[in-house]
Amino acid sequence: MADMLEIDRLSFRYPEAPREAVSGFDLRIPQGEIVVLAGPSGCGKSTLLRTVNGLIPHMYSGDYAGDVRVGGASVKGSDMRDLSQKVGFLFQNPENQIFMFTVERDVAFGLENIGVPRDEMRERVDEALRLLGISDLAQRAPHELSDGQKQRVALAGVLAMKPSLVILDEPTSLLDPMTAGDLVALVAKLRKDLGTTFVVVEHRLDLLVKVADRLVVMSEGKKVLEGTPRDILFGDDAERYGVATPAVTQLQKMLARRGLATTGTLLTPGELAAELKGRNR
Ligand SMILES: Nc1ncnc2c1ncn2[C@@H]1O[C@H](COP(=O)(O)OP(=O)(O)OP(=O)(O)O)[C@@H](O)[C@H]1O
Ligand SMILES: [Mg+2]
Repeated sequence: MADMLEIDRLSFRYPEAPREAVSGFDLRIPQGEIVVLAGPSGCGKSTLLRTVNGLIPHMYSGDYAGDVRVGGASVKGSDMRDLSQKVGFLFQNPENQIFMFTVERDVAFGLENIGVPRDEMRERVDEALRLLGISDLAQRAPHELSDGQKQRVALAGVLAMKPSLVILDEPTSLLDPMTAGDLVALVAKLRKDLGTTFVVVEHRLDLLVKVADRLVVMSEGKKVLEGTPRDILFGDDAERYGVATPAVTQLQKMLARRGLATTGTLLTPGELAAELKGRNR
């Protein structure tokens, strides 16, 4: 069976740009994986996501080479309508994604476009609002909500489409730590319950490392590191590419430099607590 996402030797250069925004990029993601994409500002993360949801090459012109397939079908050869049902996409800025006069209508927007029957639409919108914890906002006007609330409205619209692949561009950037934690828990739940595949661009690795199967690091349009979060974050190269190491990992490295070795590789406060408890027995 084809992997959910297959990217082969992909390169893309925006018109007039001096160099490629994505360059010779390869990636394979099986169904049901949660992959985090990290790297410094301008390294090409959002551009790469646009080649997955089809905005590139369908909406942006430029030099395109290589191939991207979702569920075995070429993105270049698919139309945007079919892609919109397979690939859910949360933009970096939710303002770009909210159109309607009420939250409820906004969340229903994609479903209306593909002609989902009224009853089913009602159900799917209610479910999405509930999953995001914003049922009470259903009748509000999106433009009068906070940025974090807008982000959740946009994400509810994405989830209502029940896409098999969801790509999120810095989904927690506008959320407070608790809501950001809820979002990560939701990602894990959707993967478990529905087998949804996720590609998440995220700087706050502390939150994501708990659920991510894989971490991919980009630099200047190229893939420079790929592996489990644990392998990458404990390797020597992550910091070189500006990847923010979780606080617990930094602490462990600092303790090691001072001769206080801990065992294994620690990523989360829970793992650190378990390690310390083990020592004091
Ligand atoms: N619409 C566009 N037209 C021309 N150049 C663009 C466009 N969008 C992005 N670029 C350029 O492509 C390169 C990659 O940008 P991209 O937005 O993909 O980076 P990013 O990794 O998502 O950065 P950030 O972390 O700041 O969101 C940058 O040099 C950027 O200036
Ligand atoms: Mg970006």
